[in-house]
Amino acid sequence: MGWETVLYSVLAGVVTAPILIKLFYPHFYTDVRFILKSLPITRLEKNIKNNVSVITRFIQQAAAKPDRTFLMYQDEVYTYREMDQWSNRVGNFFHARGLRAGETFAIFMLNEPAYLAIFLGLSKLGMTTAMLNNNLRSKSLLHCFNVSGAKNLIVGKDEALISAILEILPELQQQGVTVWVMGDQVQENGVLPLEDKIEAASDAPIPAELRSGIRMKDMIAYIYTSGTTGLPKAAKISYGRMVYASMFLALCGVTAEDVVYTALPLYHSAALCIGLAGTVETGCTWVLRKKFSASRFWDDCRKYNVTVVQYIGELLRYLCAQPKRPDDLDNQVWAAVGNGLRPEIWSEFQERFGVSNIMEFYAATEGNVGFVNLLQKFGAVGYASPLMRKLRPCNFVKYDVATGEPIRDENGWCIETKPGENGLVIAPITQRTFFDGYAGKKELSEKKVLRDVFKKGDGYFNSGDVLFMDTDYHVFFVDRLGDTFRWKGENVATTEVSQVLSEHDAIQEANVYGVKIPGYDGRAGMASLIVRPDHSLDFPALYEHVAQYLPSYAAPRFLRLQQEIDVTGTFKQKKVTAVEEGFDPHQVSDPLYFMDTSRKTYIPLDTGLYQGIVNGQVTVN
Ligand SMILES: *[C@@H]1O[C@H](CO)[C@@H](O)[C@H](O)[C@H]1NC(C)=O
Ligand SMILES: *[C@@H]1O[C@H](CO)[C@@H](O)[C@H](O)[C@H]1NC(C)=O
Ligand SMILES: *[C@@H]1O[C@H](CO)[C@@H](O)[C@H](O)[C@H]1NC(C)=O
Repeated sequence: MGWETVLYSVLAGVVTAPILIKLFYPHFYTDVRFILKSLPITRLEKNIKNNVSVITRFIQQAAAKPDRTFLMYQDEVYTYREMDQWSNRVGNFFHARGLRAGETFAIFMLNEPAYLAIFLGLSKLGMTTAMLNNNLRSKSLLHCFNVSGAKNLIVGKDEALISAILEILPELQQQGVTVWVMGDQVQENGVLPLEDKIEAASDAPIPAELRSGIRMKDMIAYIYTSGTTGLPKAAKISYGRMVYASMFLALCGVTAEDVVYTALPLYHSAALCIGLAGTVETGCTWVLRKKFSASRFWDDCRKYNVTVVQYIGELLRYLCAQPKRPDDLDNQVWAAVGNGLRPEIWSEFQERFGVSNIMEFYAATEGNVGFVNLLQKFGAVGYASPLMRKLRPCNFVKYDVATGEPIRDENGWCIETKPGENGLVIAPITQRTFFDGYAGKKELSEKKVLRDVFKKGDGYFNSGDVLFMDTDYHVFFVDRLGDTFRWKGENVATTEVSQVLSEHDAIQEANVYGVKIPGYDGRAGMASLIVRPDHSLDFPALYEHVAQYLPSYAAPRFLRLQQEIDVTGTFKQKKVTAVEEGFDPHQVSDPLYFMDTSRKTYIPLDTGLYQGIVNGQVTVN
C-alpha cells in the first residue's frame, strides 16, 4: 500500500467519520464533551480503592497548605491548620472520655465553626455523627435522636436549642444519654459545659490507628430525610458516599483558588457532603453562614470575594425578589451549584447577577443515582444518553400517577419509558452504585428498593422522583411522587403531619398533601380534615398544637374541612383529586382556612384572600 493510499484513507476517515457518527449516533460529540467535563471524577475511584476518606483528605490538605484559609464565618477566619488543631482538641477530649470508633454521637447545633470542629474531631476518632435537624422539637427530636443509637449529644449554645433539649431531658437521662452544651454559662442539672473543656484539651494529632479499622462502607454520618412513612428516617452516609459527594465541586470546575459560599444548614447533605467535603477535596476556602439572608447575600459575596455559591431553588428566587441594586453585577461569582432551580428564575438570576454557570443537579441524600447539568442546558438537571446510562446505570420507568408505584407489564417487569416521556427514576443497586439505607429496622430501607424489576432477583433503588428526558437525552426534574413534598427546602412527610394532626382532640381524620402556589417553589402543606362528631375546631388551639409538634416548614398552610369520608374511589385517588383542586375556593366547596402566622391561628380563606395569595400580595411563610 503506497503512502498516497494511506493518506487518502486517513483523510477519508477524518472526513467521513464525523458524518457517519452524526448519522448513526448523533449524540457522540455531546457524550465526549460530557465525559471530558467529568474527568476530575477519575480521582474518585482511586480514593475509594485506597480507602482515602474525606477525613484523610482533610489531614492531607492541612499538612500541604496549613496557612490557607479553610473557613470564614462572620468575622472569624480559620486556616486549615487552625481547624485541624481545633478538631484534634475535640477528638482528644472525647477519646480521653472513653469514646471510640464505631460509636455514634449526635449534634444539635446551628451552623457555626464549632460544628465543623466537632464533626471533624469525632470523625478522626472513627465515630459516626448524627446530624440532628435543629428545627425538630419534642417527639420528633426524641425519635431522631433515638434512631441514631447515640449515647452522647452536643447542643449549640443558642437558647432555642437548649430549651428544646431541656424539654426532653428527662427522657434522655432515663436512657443514660450524656448531654453537652457548647457554652460555659449553662448551669442546668445534667448538662455538661463543653467549650472550656475542648479549649483545654491537647491539639496533638489524633493517631491514625484509632480510625484504621474504618472502611468505605462504614458510616461517617446520619442525615435525616423525611420518610414516606411517618417520622424522619436517618439516612446512612457511608465514607464511600461522602467521597462520591466530595467530588462534586471539583466536577463543577471548582479549584483550590475558589471561595465557596454556603448558607444552607449543615444537617443536610448539600452543606455537609457537597459543601464541606467538596471544600476539603479541592482545598478551597469555605464561607459558612448561620442562616441564609436574601438582603445580605451579595454583600457577603463581595466581603469574602466569593466565587461559587451553593443554592436550593428557593434561595435564588428570594434573591431575585430583592429590590434591584446598582451593584447587583458587582461580584466575582462564576458558578451557582445546587438543585431545585425553576426555569422562570434561571435566566433572570444569571442575567441580573452575572453568574455564568448554573450547576443544577439532581440527587437524593441516600440515593444511588444523580445527574449534573455539566453541559449548561437551560432548565436541565443533567444528561443521560445511552452511553452515560451505561457508565452510571439508571432507568426511567412508567409509573401510576395515583399510587406512585411503577407499572408492571403482563410478566411483572417494569416498563422503560422512551425519550420524550416522563419516567420514574430508578437505579440498580450494585457494588459501585450502592444504597446505604437507613438506620433502624431493615424494612425502612427495603421500602425504597424495588425487586424483580427487569429480571428475577434484581434490586433497584426507587428515587420516588419523576424526571423528563427529552429526545436529546437532557434530563429535567418534574415532580416527587408519593407521600413527601418539598417546602422551604425541606422534605415534608405527609404521614408525619397527619399523625400529629390526628392527635388533636377534635380531629378524626387528616389527609395531608402539598399544593402548588404560583410564584413559590415546592408545595405548601394542606390538610383535609374531618372533625369528630360533636366537636368543633378551635383554630388558635389547633395552630398552637401544630406549632408545638411540627417544625415550622411542616405545619399545614391550608386546611380543608370535609364533612365525611368520601367512600368512592381509593384513598390515593382522592388525594390526587384533592391535590389538583388545591386551595382554590372556586373549585372546592368545602370550607377552606389559611394559616395566619401573625395572629397565630387559621383564618377563613375566601376568594379575596385567595387572589391575594395567588398574585403575591399575601405572603405564604
Ligand atoms: C482498603 O480497605 C479494604 C477493606 O475494605 C482492604 O481490603 C484494602 O486492603 C484497603 N486498601 C488499602 C490501600 O489500604
Ligand atoms: C426512645 O427510646 C426509648 C428507649 O428505647 C423509648 O422508651 C422511647 O419511647 C423512645 N422514644 C421515641 C420518641 O421514640
Ligand atoms: C478580597 O479581595 C481584595 C482584593 O484582591 C482583597 O484586598 C481582600 O483582602 C480580599 N478579601 C478577603 C476576605 O479575602
